[in-house]
Amino acid sequence: MSSLRVQLLSWMAFTLVGAICVNLYISFQTASATSDLITDRTLTASARVIAEDVMVDESGNVRVEIPPSALEMFDTGHRDRVYYQVMTAWGNLLTGFPDLPRSVAPDVGEDTLFRGEPVRVLTLFHPVVGLRDESDISVTVAVTQNGNTSLRNRLWLSDFTKQLVLVLLAGLVATLGLQRGLAPILRLRDLVRARGSTSLEPMEPEIVQTELRPLVHALNDHMERVQNQMAAQRRFVSNAAHQLRTPLALISTQASVAARETDPDKRDEALQALRNSTKQVTRLASQLLTLSRAEPGSRRPRKDRIDLVATGRLVLENHAEYALRRAIDLGLEADDAPIWIEGDGTMLREMVVNLLDNALRYTPDQGMVTMRIQRDGTYALLQIEDNGPGIPEPERAQVFERFYRVIGTTAEGSGLGLAIVRDVVDGAGGRVTLEDALGGGLLVTVRLPAA
Ligand SMILES: Nc1ncnc2c1ncn2[C@@H]1O[C@H](COP(=O)(O)OP(=O)(O)O)[C@@H](O)[C@H]1O
Ligand SMILES: [Mg+2]
Repeated sequence: MSSLRVQLLSWMAFTLVGAICVNLYISFQTASATSDLITDRTLTASARVIAEDVMVDESGNVRVEIPPSALEMFDTGHRDRVYYQVMTAWGNLLTGFPDLPRSVAPDVGEDTLFRGEPVRVLTLFHPVVGLRDESDISVTVAVTQNGNTSLRNRLWLSDFTKQLVLVLLAGLVATLGLQRGLAPILRLRDLVRARGSTSLEPMEPEIVQTELRPLVHALNDHMERVQNQMAAQRRFVSNAAHQLRTPLALISTQASVAARETDPDKRDEALQALRNSTKQVTRLASQLLTLSRAEPGSRRPRKDRIDLVATGRLVLENHAEYALRRAIDLGLEADDAPIWIEGDGTMLREMVVNLLDNALRYTPDQGMVTMRIQRDGTYALLQIEDNGPGIPEPERAQVFERFYRVIGTTAEGSGLGLAIVRDVVDGAGGRVTLEDALGGGLLVTVRLPAA
C-alpha cells in the first residue's frame, strides 16, 4: 500500500469500525440488562400481589384468588402471555400451571422456555399467616418476551444511534483533519512536479510541517550536489573540447601545408608531423573514454580477479621498446607468486599503464624507472619509481585533477592520466600517494586490498 492517504484513512476506518462494534456490543448488553431489570420488577410486583391475596379460612383451607391487577400490569400492548403457579412449601399446587418452571434463585428473574416459547420467569417465597407450620408459599410468574424484547430494542437503538452519530462525526472531523494535514505534502508534490527539467533551485522548507522539513532539506542538499556535479560535467566537456580543438586546428594546418608542398622530402616531413598530431588526438580521445568509464557509477562494477604481478609484467613488456629507445633502465622487482586483487580488470590495467607511461615520459633519456609489486599484509602494493624531475610538494594534490599539468611540462599529454588513476584506485577501494623518490624523482605508491 503506497498511498499515505489511503493508508491513514484505512487505519482510521478500521479503528472506527472497531469502535462501532464494541459500541454495538456494549449498548446491547446494557439495554438487555435494563429491560430484564424492569421485567423482573414487574414479575416481582405481580407475584407479590398474588401472594398477598392468598388466605387461610377458619377451617384451615387455603384460598387463592388471582387478582386481575396481578396480570394487568403486563399489559403493555405487546400481547404477552402470562403464566403463574402458586405452591405450598411441601409441593402442593394451589393454582396455576403445574409444569411451569421455577427460577433457580428466588426473587431473581431467569430466561427459560415454557411450552416451546421463551419466557422470563421469577419465583417469590411469601409467608402466609395461618398456614400449617407457618411455612412460605411460592409464587412463580412467567411472562413471554415480547414486551421485554421490544423494550430492549428501543433502549438499545436509541443508545446506539446516539453513539453511532458521535463516532461518525469524529470520523468526519478526523478525515477533514487528515486532508488538511496532507495538503502541504500534496502541495510539495505539485511544486516538485511543476519544476522544469533543469530547475535545481532549492525549495522553501516552510511550506510543509516541521516533521517533514528534514525531507525538504535533504532534497535541497541532493539538488545542490546534482547542481555541482552538472557544473563539473559542463566544465569537463568544455575543457575536453578545448583540448581537442588545439591539435585538430594543428592537423588542419599541417594538412594544408602538406597539400601545398611540392618537394617530396618536405612533404613527407609534413605528413609525419600530421601523423604525430593525429596520434596525439587519438590518445586524448581514448583517455577521455577511459576516464568516463572509470568514473564511479558509469559502469556496472566488476569483480574480476586479476594477478597484479602478471599485469605489471605485461604492461612493462609493452613499454620495453620505448624505454630501450630512450636508454631508460626499466626494471621490475616483484614476487614470483601471484598477488590477486579484485576489481575491473581493464581499468586496473589502464591504471598501471598510465603510471608507467608518466614515469617513462617525464624521465630524461638514460634515466631509471623501477616497478615494484609486493604483498604488504592484506594489501597489494604497487610502486613506480623514477629519477625524473618529480612533482613539487604543493602540486601533488592538484595533479590528480582532470586536465591539470604541472606548469612547464613540455612532454605531450592531456592531464587526464592521474585523474584516471585516482578514479580507478578509488573504485577498487585502494589509495594512491605521491612521494619523493630516493633518487630525486617521483615515487608513486598504490595500495589495493588483496583478494
Ligand atoms: N612521474 C612523473 N614525474 C614528474 N611529473 C609527473 C610524473 N607523473 C605526472 N607528472 C606531472 O603530473 C601531471 C599530470 O599527469 P597526468 O595526469 O598523467 O597527465 P599528463 O601525463 O597527460 O600530463 C603531468 O603533466 C606532469 O606534470
Ligand atoms: Mg600522463
